[in-house]
Amino acid sequence: PTKIIMDTDPGIDDAAAITIALNHPDFDLQLITTVAGNVTVDKTTLNALKLTKFFHKNVPVAGGAAQPLIKPFEDAARIHGESGMPGYDFPTDLDQPLSMTAIEALRDHIMAAKEPITLVPTGAYTNIALLFKTYPEVIPHIKEIIAMGGALGKGNMTSAAEFNVFTDPHAAAIMYAAGVPITMVGLDVTMKALLTPDTMTKLPTLGKTGTMLHALFNHYNDGDQAGIPMHDVNTLFYLLHPEAFTTEKMWIDVQTDGPAIGETVGDIRGAYHEGKTNATVCVDIDAAAFNTWFLTAVEAIG
Ligand code: BDR
Ligand code: CA
Repeated sequence: PTKIIMDTDPGIDDAAAITIALNHPDFDLQLITTVAGNVTVDKTTLNALKLTKFFHKNVPVAGGAAQPLIKPFEDAARIHGESGMPGYDFPTDLDQPLSMTAIEALRDHIMAAKEPITLVPTGAYTNIALLFKTYPEVIPHIKEIIAMGGALGKGNMTSAAEFNVFTDPHAAAIMYAAGVPITMVGLDVTMKALLTPDTMTKLPTLGKTGTMLHALFNHYNDGDQAGIPMHDVNTLFYLLHPEAFTTEKMWIDVQTDGPAIGETVGDIRGAYHEGKTNATVCVDIDAAAFNTWFLTAVEAIG
């Protein structure tokens, strides 16, 4: 199994990603760190703990940054509900998060790991940026970052910006400049790999996990009749099935002010950075394969 750390802001699609990361036999989820994003960090931490309890897993959870580095915090409760995971009664006898912060937990885990580890950020990249600035010694111990966020095409917050990058563009700029191999799993693919109405109909027939996810998805204010985006889950699908994606290597810069703040600018012609690249960008995906894989993964959990 692939050893991963998830840095996340559950959030309904984050919850679906955590569900798979906690249970799929091809993942070894070592640590969950939380960040402010879809809702405040106290809520995203609680939500991560609801999921570890629901699945009886003792994967440690550490709470991270409550605010972006510079930009004022704006949540996405209009999409994910006030709690971030509405519509399902999770257990209330939750475990405690680690007493150390996400930044310390990330440092300890990454430095203690025998082999370089994969980071999967599915929220704003504030914790990652703080980690890289505070403990740069971790950088060579990270195998790669598979990050949900960004878009070469249009944004979902502003014309230019996707939510995770828009939430903390300064952190995104630091992450992309760090020299770690990064795969950008952005809206160019996640808005194609919609969970279809047919997949939604099947979910509640797939046991406790499908029923829980179906309840959350019914409260998810994203998507339309064509289907709902499972943005964050695409990172995990990419890790296990890169063959279902088309990718291009390029340089990604992040706009940190002005009307395009939060835009991930892809140097697609290689003209500005003279052919140098800092990212692998997902540009296309087999949406049908994603739906099939998702249903199979959820059914296997039971
Ligand atoms: C991203 O924004 C959040 O609302 C989702 O959880 C996802 O990580 C999509 O733009
Ligand atoms: Ca997210």
